[in-house]
Amino acid sequence: MSHLLEVCELEQRFDVSPGFFDRLKIQDGRLRYKKSIVHAVNGVSFHIDRGEVLGLVGESGCGKSTVAKTIIKLYDPSGGRIKVNGKDITAYNYQKMVPVRKTIQVIFQDPYASLNPRLKVMDIITEPMAFIGAPISKTELREKGMALLKRVGLGEEHASRYPHQFSGGQRQRIGIARALSVEPELVIADEPVSALDVSIQAQILNLMMDLKDEFGFSYLFITHDLSVVRHISDRIGVMYLGFLVETGPTEDIFLRPKHPYTRALLSAAPSVYEKLHIDPLAITGEVPTALEIPAGCSFQSRCPFAFDRCLQERPRLVSREPGRLEACHLLDAQ
Ligand SMILES: Nc1ncnc2c1ncn2[C@@H]1O[C@H](COP(=O)(O)OP(=O)(O)O)[C@@H](O)[C@H]1O
Ligand SMILES: [Mg+2]
Repeated sequence: MSHLLEVCELEQRFDVSPGFFDRLKIQDGRLRYKKSIVHAVNGVSFHIDRGEVLGLVGESGCGKSTVAKTIIKLYDPSGGRIKVNGKDITAYNYQKMVPVRKTIQVIFQDPYASLNPRLKVMDIITEPMAFIGAPISKTELREKGMALLKRVGLGEEHASRYPHQFSGGQRQRIGIARALSVEPELVIADEPVSALDVSIQAQILNLMMDLKDEFGFSYLFITHDLSVVRHISDRIGVMYLGFLVETGPTEDIFLRPKHPYTRALLSAAPSVYEKLHIDPLAITGEVPTALEIPAGCSFQSRCPFAFDRCLQERPRLVSREPGRLEACHLLDAQ
């Protein structure tokens, strides 16, 4: 059977060149025209099955949100393929994407920015149902909306209020209700609790996991917070500079990280690391700019183990034991 979501060699580049005249540069005595391309996502491949939670982790700027936005075709991919339930949606236009929006819904980090400030809560929640769901009467729409509102912990009295009248946590509850209104098979949650107070985060996460069990959908759960991802994911994918560098079952990776970057990432999160028994790995320096991707491994400039091959040849994501994949030449040398 086909995967619910399959992403193959996904690429996303953004042309961030300045205006035409600013791009002209004199180099070696000649006039040259220089383009600036951000390589946000570089050959990323993964899949998600029904009922599964895949966590996507990595430092800010590593391409997590771009992967999400490309999957739902907010951006057309620069390369690679996206399949949903076996159907290749890579070239789908806006019209063809309408039924896919019933299958895949998104919860964003900032619920305030993603909720229409001029619509009342009931209209916000029922909008996707009215737009992409099966034809449905107004009364039925309202009834379903009310039931969802209650299910996410809000009351009937909230239905006729506007987003600005709610707290951050309540707004995220509204965003969750809206996403679930069309009974999606996959929910992409992009840092859904990162903007909330720590005390509220656990409540929203618990709600999200309860709803998953109740409705039986899958999550692509994007976060830079390792304790969150450990709590909720079945498998994780670790990204660095637009590349997926390691994937595998969550506990397995937390207990036995293989890629040096994964080790460094775990070592840098004290609350997570203290409970693990892994060799800590401290790395220095900054994530390089996504404007120039190195020829070899993306992690070479910060990896304490980098050797010749890492500077010349880009490591592919390969499996060395069932369920686990890493892109690292060091692991071949061992
Ligand atoms: N619309 C865009 N135009 C140009 N560059 C972008 C755009 N969106 C993201 N980027 C760049 O792509 C890279 C990945 O960004 P993003 O996907 O937002 O990372 P993350 O979600 O992991 O923090 C960053 O270098 C970012 O500056
Ligand atoms: Mg992001």
